Amino acid sequence: MKIYFATGNPHKLKEGEMILRDLKGVKIEGINIPYPEVQGTLEEVAEFGAKYLYTRIKKPVFVEDSGFFIEVLKGFPGSYSRYVQETIGNRGILKLMEDFKGEERRAYFKSVVGYCDEDGVKLFKGVVRGKVSYEIRSKGYGFAYDSIFIPEGEDRTFAEMTTVEKSRISHRKRALEEFKEYLKKRLSSP
Ligand code: IMP
Repeated sequence: MKIYFATGNPHKLKEGEMILRDLKGVKIEGINIPYPEVQGTLEEVAEFGAKYLYTRIKKPVFVEDSGFFIEVLKGFPGSYSRYVQETIGNRGILKLMEDFKGEERRAYFKSVVGYCDEDGVKLFKGVVRGKVSYEIRSKGYGFAYDSIFIPEGEDRTFAEMTTVEKSRISHRKRALEEFKEYLKKRLSSP
């Protein structure tokens, strides 16, 4: 069975392929077909995107929508993560966080996978909790907020961890693991 992963982001595709690689009987293939990103929650974006793409290609397809949420900023940038990253960027975020210390720096990444096939759409979610670092720290891995996010139980940022290390604990990993379990059950049921 071939399942299409609709994304224009090579980092996401690499993480996705790595996580779903060992799923027997399924081949993941990236496709870069843009889909309208409705303004709304990650769930709404993923559901709309998956349905939209299925009506276009008529093949099993999934999208993944994610965001970065800072608790003390009431979830900002959240659904606006891409825009905020492209405008004020990590320096702007660190500036907004200047007065916050310790636990006040709590943040999380959330990922929602939307999968659609002939049976309709299903959503799978994953979260990774951690803190906003005090400075930008990167060894050249990852992208966007990775260089200011330290996951729980770590002292390195995501951008100081290899893709393999990040893919073991990331929000995307958790959402895709749920998706994988669903596919396993589906493939094994008669
Ligand atoms: P998208 O709309 O799902 O492509 O993601 C929204 C934005 O969230 C991205 O453009 C990034 O700025 C941010 N983001 C999502 N996942 C990650 C991640 O794993 N690391 C760093 N930033 C991320």
